[in-house]
Amino acid sequence: MGVGVFDSGVGGLSVLRALRAELPHHNFIYIADSGHAPYGERDQAHVIARSRALTAHLLGQGVQALVIACNTATAAAIDVLRSEHPQLPIIGVEPALKPAAATSKTRRIGVMATRSTLGSSRFRALLGSLATQAEFVLQPCDGLADAIERGVANTANPPTATEIIAACARHTRALGQFGLKDGEIDTLVLGCTHYPFAAAVLRDLIGPDVQLVDTGEAVARQTRLRLASAVSTGESDSAPGRISLFSTGQATHLRAAAQRWLQLDGPVGTLHF
Ligand code: DGL
Repeated sequence: MGVGVFDSGVGGLSVLRALRAELPHHNFIYIADSGHAPYGERDQAHVIARSRALTAHLLGQGVQALVIACNTATAAAIDVLRSEHPQLPIIGVEPALKPAAATSKTRRIGVMATRSTLGSSRFRALLGSLATQAEFVLQPCDGLADAIERGVANTANPPTATEIIAACARHTRALGQFGLKDGEIDTLVLGCTHYPFAAAVLRDLIGPDVQLVDTGEAVARQTRLRLASAVSTGESDSAPGRISLFSTGQATHLRAAAQRWLQLDGPVGTLHF
C-alpha cells in the first residue's frame, strides 16, 4: 500500500518533498521516467502512452492513490487516466495561475512551463478562466528541464551548472522586465516540477522582490484531503513512511537528486519498460 508518484525525471521530487512533509507516515513509490524523457518537447501521444504504462505498473504494486508529479503529463493524460481508473484517487499538478493572480500587485505574471503544457487545451482553459484578472506572459522553457536533469548528476561539473544558468537567463530575459513597478512582472509561476530546483538561479536573475510560485505544497495538501476522504490515511501509525525510488533511465541521476534534495540515501531500482 502507498501512494504512487511519477514524473518524467527528477523534477517530481519537488512534489515528493512536499508530500513527505504533509504525509510523513505514508509510503510512497516514486518513478522517474528518465528513459523516456523529456516529456515537454514530445507529442501528446507519447506522454499519454507513458502515463498509462507507469500507472499500470504502480497499480500492480498496489498503490491506493496516484500523484502525477508532472505538469506536462497532467495536461496530456489526467483525463484519460481518470476515465480508465475511476476508483483511483488521481491528483495532478498544474501551473499555479490562480494563486499568482490572487497575490500579484502589478497584475503582470510570468509563467515558465514546457512547450507541451503551454500548448495544451487544459492549460488554455485555465488561462481563459483568469484572463480578466491578470496579464500572463508565457515562456516555453525548451531545454531547461533537461539541463536540470543532467545537472543534478554532477553538481561539481561546471558545464552542466552553466547550462542551467544559461537556460534560465535566456528564458527570464524573454519574459521581460521583473520588479514591483507598474508594467513589471512581480510574480513568476514555476509551471514545471523541475524548475523549483533552479529557484536559486532564477532568484539571482530576477531579484529578491519577485514572488516565485510553485505547486508542491498545494498538491501535497490536496493529496492528504483526497486520501482522507477515500481511504484510511494511516496517520495513527507513527512509524515514518517508506520511500521507494525507481527510474526507467539512469538510476544514478535519481539517486544523486534524492540524496541532494530529500536527504534520501536508499537504493534506486531500475525498471525496464
Ligand atoms: N517535470 C515536468 C513538468 O512538470 C516536465 C519535464 C519534461 O519536459 O520532461 O512539466
